[in-house]
Amino acid sequence: MAIVSQNLKKNDNDLDVDAFRSAMLDWYKSNARELPWRVHFGERPDPYHEWLSEIMLQQTVVKAAIGYFNKFINLWPTIHDLADAHPDDITKEWAGLGYYARARNLHKCAQIISREYNGVFPNNEKDLMLLPGIGPYTSAAIRSIAFQKPSVVMDGNIERIMCRVFAHKLPLKDSKRQLYEFASYLSQDRTDYPGEYAQSLMDLGASVCISSTPKCMRCPIQQFCQAYKSGIQNDIPVKKNRVPKPERFGVLYFIENDKGQILFERRSDKGLLANMVGVPGTNWTDDAEESLTETFIPDFDISHTFTHFRLKLKGVRLLEKKQNDTNKKLFWYDPNEYVKLGLPTVFLKAVKQYLKVVKTR
Ligand code: ADE
Repeated sequence: MAIVSQNLKKNDNDLDVDAFRSAMLDWYKSNARELPWRVHFGERPDPYHEWLSEIMLQQTVVKAAIGYFNKFINLWPTIHDLADAHPDDITKEWAGLGYYARARNLHKCAQIISREYNGVFPNNEKDLMLLPGIGPYTSAAIRSIAFQKPSVVMDGNIERIMCRVFAHKLPLKDSKRQLYEFASYLSQDRTDYPGEYAQSLMDLGASVCISSTPKCMRCPIQQFCQAYKSGIQNDIPVKKNRVPKPERFGVLYFIENDKGQILFERRSDKGLLANMVGVPGTNWTDDAEESLTETFIPDFDISHTFTHFRLKLKGVRLLEKKQNDTNKKLFWYDPNEYVKLGLPTVFLKAVKQYLKVVKTR
């Protein structure tokens, strides 16, 4: 906590919170998007509308949410109507939004509000967070927008704005707590239009402070933005440096007998894919040349990415030279029956690829 606050001071001693908030609110007065769950500046929306829109927006973009929102409000104008709806009807209308657990939670939440809260949404964080489908973001959004309670609303857009305003030079993923601190610093328990302020940040992130090239010439908080002042706004948020995974190489042998079977092996009980079934092959090494210990023409390629490396394999068809099934670990099996073997993904890919090649030759 101490480090976070120190950082804030070091970076932004001078940021005038009053002026910043006024600039955002002024901008919002004339630039707010018209959305069916929104009301005029200074008015409070129906918490049912606000809650419904936030649950839908967990799932989809604003443009797509509008149609769903209008449809739901037409079908179920109050939270009591939604609570009394048949779950199958809700699921049906939710279709296309995906992630059906959200639809079920929506219904459960409506029933709790209707039956236990008499249809009145709670306005405190503790009770809101106990409701199905409501987490820290949704709870903060409902509190600020529907109840004008000071809350720190953080979504991806707002994180990006914080990153730029404070010229924060670490990737978003590693900075959640720090960015939350920045946003809290600008919220500071303010009671002046917390809902409009939160929505102004949402809209700015959606239309001006966008992720690709921010439209700084149209930005109401340009003068407060340290990234803009340093000319680094296009490089912030910084991308996480992806270190390329190392590569390994090897050959898989698809040894065929005259019954249409191929030789499989149960792998040793040590190392990667221990005890699982695969096909025999060379060791997997980091030297592409070395992996090709014999001269042959590969029939196909297989690539697979493990957590720590990328594997590039060559598949080679070979005819059985001698019966080799005396080895306990090797066994003949019809490759078309691969499903029964419970192969790990890399060998599943390899066998499917093999079957394709066999069919075409
Ligand atoms: N994204 C999530 N919640 C939103 C809201 N209330 N208005 C606009 N965009 C949003």
